[in-house]
Amino acid sequence: MPFRYSAPPWWRQAVFYQIYLRSFADGNGDGVGDLAGLRARLPYLKGLGVDALWVTPWYTSPMADGGYDICDHRAIDPLFGTTEEAESLLAEVHDADLRVILDLVPNHCSKQHPWFRQAVSEGPGSPSRDRFWFRPGKGPDGSRPPNDWPSQFGGPAWTRLTEADGTPGPWYLHLFSHHQPDLNWNHPDIRADFAHTVRFWLERGADGFRVDAAPFPVKNPSLPDIAPHASPTQLPYRDQHQVHEIYRALRALTDSYPGSHFLIGEVNLPTTAQRARYVRTDELHCTFNFPYLASSWEAHKLRQIITDSLPADKDTPAQAAWVLSNHDTVRHLTRYGRDDSSFHMDGTFVDGPLDTNYRTGFARARAAILLTLALPGPAFLFQGEELGLPEVEDLPRAAVHDLAGKQPNTPAQGRDGCRVPLPWSEDTPPFGFTTNGTAWLPQPSSWHGLTAQRQEADPASMLRLYRAALAWRSCHMPSLPTTLRWLDLGTNVLAFARGAFLCLVNFGAHPIPLPHETQVHLTSSPLEERRLPQDASAWLTRSGYPAPPSLSHDGTKSS
Ligand code: NOJ
Repeated sequence: MPFRYSAPPWWRQAVFYQIYLRSFADGNGDGVGDLAGLRARLPYLKGLGVDALWVTPWYTSPMADGGYDICDHRAIDPLFGTTEEAESLLAEVHDADLRVILDLVPNHCSKQHPWFRQAVSEGPGSPSRDRFWFRPGKGPDGSRPPNDWPSQFGGPAWTRLTEADGTPGPWYLHLFSHHQPDLNWNHPDIRADFAHTVRFWLERGADGFRVDAAPFPVKNPSLPDIAPHASPTQLPYRDQHQVHEIYRALRALTDSYPGSHFLIGEVNLPTTAQRARYVRTDELHCTFNFPYLASSWEAHKLRQIITDSLPADKDTPAQAAWVLSNHDTVRHLTRYGRDDSSFHMDGTFVDGPLDTNYRTGFARARAAILLTLALPGPAFLFQGEELGLPEVEDLPRAAVHDLAGKQPNTPAQGRDGCRVPLPWSEDTPPFGFTTNGTAWLPQPSSWHGLTAQRQEADPASMLRLYRAALAWRSCHMPSLPTTLRWLDLGTNVLAFARGAFLCLVNFGAHPIPLPHETQVHLTSSPLEERRLPQDASAWLTRSGYPAPPSLSHDGTKSS
């Protein structure tokens, strides 16, 4: 048998940059980020050194949930531009030798979707209602929800319909907000339409998809109440075995197109075994590593999560992408400056500012990106983390858009604190984000020191650290082993080797000496006489390794 070498797929070690479109860059001056703004900033992304973009939903939508409430999966919302502009963007991304993945939202659509409007207008008994989950309420007058399932945003997962003649009708299921009715995946129209959407974007050049709320589209068909004392691994509305058929079909469809496409799922489930089922060889390629994102800044916790995330099979690097923040979470720089530095995945958002030590958060965020980018497998960055943006915790209540901030009994600002538009340039808001004076969410005036323009000129900035790390990673890490070996440098130190490459992170209060006979390539904070300070990381190679030009902590080259 002749030896055949098959190169790893492009996404295996890729760094993705998440574009939350409405907050990235505004090109038409209406205060909301859009395709024109993104296209104009492609050189910035190329210069940053990422390999691919993930663009959050850009489809037509009333924007009740930031575009995750979709009316037409195959058309661009006018707020963001046109389908022609999306096609141009895809072409320009490829010309820049980057890739792009798009969001798919299989679980639900918008209440304004033509199907739901039809279901409401055609009235009781209409077959158009079978595309959703309509059920009579409980009790003599049907005034209680059909079961006890909760909405992910709080309150019941059911809303009662008012029929066209004003009488109270059945209830419809929405595992997210009442603006987002759940689709019934037993209906052939749902499967056909989903496949149509996938083909539509693959034919326009999408390099893959991020699947929203991946464990939710299939429900236990009898819609039972949650069993008393049910374990979180056995909920009737999540992670049903038949859901995997959807991802097998999606994989078969994308594999039927020429080229290499990447599928990543938002699979936020409690156990490793549950998550692993979504990345079987004929399903998605990858999930997000939510335990890593949610972890507190503690050496033993992160080490355990990293160990659990690396497959036992030595030839397969992590099947969960490393990620520190996204558009649903508190920005990690802020979390890392708090006493409780973990992110709570149960949907509780903090009301008002907590005590945060920004100096600590900043140092840890710098250390965290070197840890993240040293791990084998894909990584996702959330826009603005490369600028060291903190969570904005004092948005005026009237400015808040996120529906998670508007539910009864939920804290005031929901997820908007991480969605504040990026500061690009200038000394005052809107910091070059828009040509209009006002961005859709107010930016803190204190961000004048965090603009991309300012950081560009500062060798010690977060932006320059990210650029240096990404450049070194793309040049030197592809050839490193995809397995890592832990080194024992004490309980407060995370240290591992990938071949001759070493990554060290000091979580302890005292500086630690670097191992002998190593060459330093990058550090997140300046060394103190070859000692790594608290909350800092370093990238080293063992002496004798054919060393690339070294980069000092500020990203400049030295001989
Ligand atoms: C997960 C998305 O990331 C989030 O922003 C959205 O609200 C829900 N899914 C519902 O689509």
